Amino acid sequence: METKTGVFRTKISTLVIFSIAASVSASLSFDFYADSCPAAEFIVRNTVSSSSSSDPSIPGKLLRLLFHDCFVEGCDASVLLQGNNTEQTDPGNRSLGGFSVIESAKRVLETFCPETVSCADIIALAARDAVEIVGGPLIQIPTGRRDGMVSLASNVRPNIVDTSFTMDAMIKLFSSKGLTLDDLVILSGGHTIGKSHCSSFRDRFQEDSNGRLTIIDKSLDRDYANELIKECSAGPIQTVTVNNDPETAMLFDNQYYSNLVSHKGLFQSDSALFSDERSRKLVQDLANDQDLFFQNWGQSFLKLTGIGAKTDDQGEIRRSCAATNA
Ligand code: HEM
Repeated sequence: METKTGVFRTKISTLVIFSIAASVSASLSFDFYADSCPAAEFIVRNTVSSSSSSDPSIPGKLLRLLFHDCFVEGCDASVLLQGNNTEQTDPGNRSLGGFSVIESAKRVLETFCPETVSCADIIALAARDAVEIVGGPLIQIPTGRRDGMVSLASNVRPNIVDTSFTMDAMIKLFSSKGLTLDDLVILSGGHTIGKSHCSSFRDRFQEDSNGRLTIIDKSLDRDYANELIKECSAGPIQTVTVNNDPETAMLFDNQYYSNLVSHKGLFQSDSALFSDERSRKLVQDLANDQDLFFQNWGQSFLKLTGIGAKTDDQGEIRRSCAATNA
């Protein structure tokens, strides 16, 4: 356990400086690339920023990409490897995006600092920057992750949370990654941005023989349920998407928690955080206090980006993020 200083920016751009006591991997360090590639973080940020201005869906995609990378084989860019039966081919990863942003940053980095900056670090930095670009806190994260050599579709299902999971199942999976119930509640706040396919919450619908949708989950706010039906009826549920946060879709804020309190959680796994007594109080506190969310987000995000990080002589620094060097 080491203590580091982080700088966080609130929505109103107040600077808040505080200490983070988070269990980050021992061999990761702040400013890891200070000598070997001083522009590394700048280059990643620039790439994320320019791609997000031309495509506002990028921040959500990058944040989810990090989550799916870190939960399977650790934060080692295994999710980027292409080929038969790699993680990307699993249906649980079918709707992931943001790959081209990581690859563009990598191309620039290979020009300025060849074979130096890992794809795993680019994913973590890009997700960090994506959050900040849409109004979230700016977090200092340590770097020095190395890229993994293993990517198996069969590792995805056992390591990724499904929207139908019970609280107990979510807590168990998060705990296997060193994350607590509080981390589950706080990191689920990532659903304050981004979009989801209607097919991802089909368990809340019933579809009659004419393809007409009705919501079967009576715990959902009625107006919200009707809005979802309307939006999802616009086309095939496999292709239509809705905003994860119906109120402030493009902003990283604490609205997600207010949505949960008002029974507007998109997934059953979101609603569970408020209906379960073990997490209800934290959901309420986070709904009432955005600074509290941002501070907690910084700490949980650090833990997320440290999961199973490979360092020192483990793994490699890939030349292209889509393939191992060999
Ligand atoms: C805890 C259980 C979680 C479940 C069951 C879950 C499930 C999902 C599903 C099914 C989608 C929609 C995919 C689609 O239809 O395209 C989604 C989207 C998303 N998730 Fe989660 N997620 C969870 C936690 C997290 C965490 C911890 C983060 C980040 C730290 C996160 C970030 C996102 C983001 C940003 C999106 C939107 C992606 C986009 O816009 O393309 N999720 N999630």
